[in-house]
Amino acid sequence: MEAERVVSGWKRPDDWDVELTLRPRTLADYVGQTKVKEHMELFITAAKQRGEALDHVLLYGPPGLGKTSLAYVIANELGVGIHATSGPAIERQGDLVAILTSLEERDVLFIDEIHRLSRTVEEVLYPAMEDRAVDIVIGKGPGARSVRIELPAFTLIGATTRAGMLTSPLRDRFGVMSRLDLYSEGDLTEIVLRSAGILRVEIDPAGAREIARRSRGTPRVANRLLKRVRDYAQVKADNFISHAVAAEALAMFDIDENGLDHLDRHILKTIVSVFGGGPVGVDSLAAAIGEEAETIEDVYEPYLIQLGLMQRTARGRCITSLGCQYLGVPFPEQLSR
Ligand SMILES: Nc1ncnc2c1ncn2[C@@H]1O[C@H](COP(=O)(O)OP(=O)(O)OP(=O)(O)O)[C@@H](O)[C@H]1O
Ligand SMILES: [Mg+2]
Repeated sequence: MEAERVVSGWKRPDDWDVELTLRPRTLADYVGQTKVKEHMELFITAAKQRGEALDHVLLYGPPGLGKTSLAYVIANELGVGIHATSGPAIERQGDLVAILTSLEERDVLFIDEIHRLSRTVEEVLYPAMEDRAVDIVIGKGPGARSVRIELPAFTLIGATTRAGMLTSPLRDRFGVMSRLDLYSEGDLTEIVLRSAGILRVEIDPAGAREIARRSRGTPRVANRLLKRVRDYAQVKADNFISHAVAAEALAMFDIDENGLDHLDRHILKTIVSVFGGGPVGVDSLAAAIGEEAETIEDVYEPYLIQLGLMQRTARGRCITSLGCQYLGVPFPEQLSR
């Protein structure tokens, strides 16, 4: 997994890091996710017409699908500032109170990995989201008293790979919940072409489609593969990414026709060779592979399931007949019964 740099601090929408140039800035730049975009556009327009802050938004879905990008796009479209932080970065209640009280009217507060906020910090968010206020305790012992501080109207945008891990009081306070889905090959082709334009890489549509096809439905992967294929084209192919160049490069990097890499294949093989095809619980599978269960659930499994190579049942993970076909092994008899 590519580590996401945690940005903390004030950012105006025009203040972009060079690193972030591949990020879309407007809803029009933001490829795919048509339904989510359509809804967001409506809510943003309505909030602007009323001169109010947008309601709190929860964005969820697998890593690399554009949650962080969308949060920045929303702030940009609203024409307000964004303060970005992440769940694990906010250690104490006071840290969050300091951030909240420094917001300006209608600003966006973006909390990435919001499911990792501690419970005590999370409690500060409840009144902040609902009543635009925080209660702080001044003094200690019998003389202590609670003081309520009013906050500016703000929009909380939370991002998480696992909405199921949010507590229900927190989840209930979001007015908008949007799930991002894996991208289609067509959308990813558009993203690769767009990124190639920004990076000044020469590529033809067939080359872009080949990279898209192997990107696991994920824009971050598409951008990463594009950069690696660019290196290959620069050294071996006159700086031009044709279909053949993309295919050769990706084969060299051990990414197969479906975009599966070594670990994907290892997961499928382990289900068959160690667990007889399943069902196997994610924790046992993770232990056998030497990966975190969370990584398997968030990063690998969604795509393998989408391709129909494995299945998630109430009793655990199973290989499918397509998965066996892919591995070139017979379908376990116990599963056909
Ligand atoms: N809809 C999109 N259109 C164009 N590019 C996109 C889109 N979504 C994502 N990207 C690209 O993919 C990269 C990863 O997106 P982003 O960091 O927003 O994902 P994320 O969902 O926040 O991931 P994580 O869960 O790992 O934090 C971005 O840098 C951007 O270049
Ligand atoms: Mg992110």
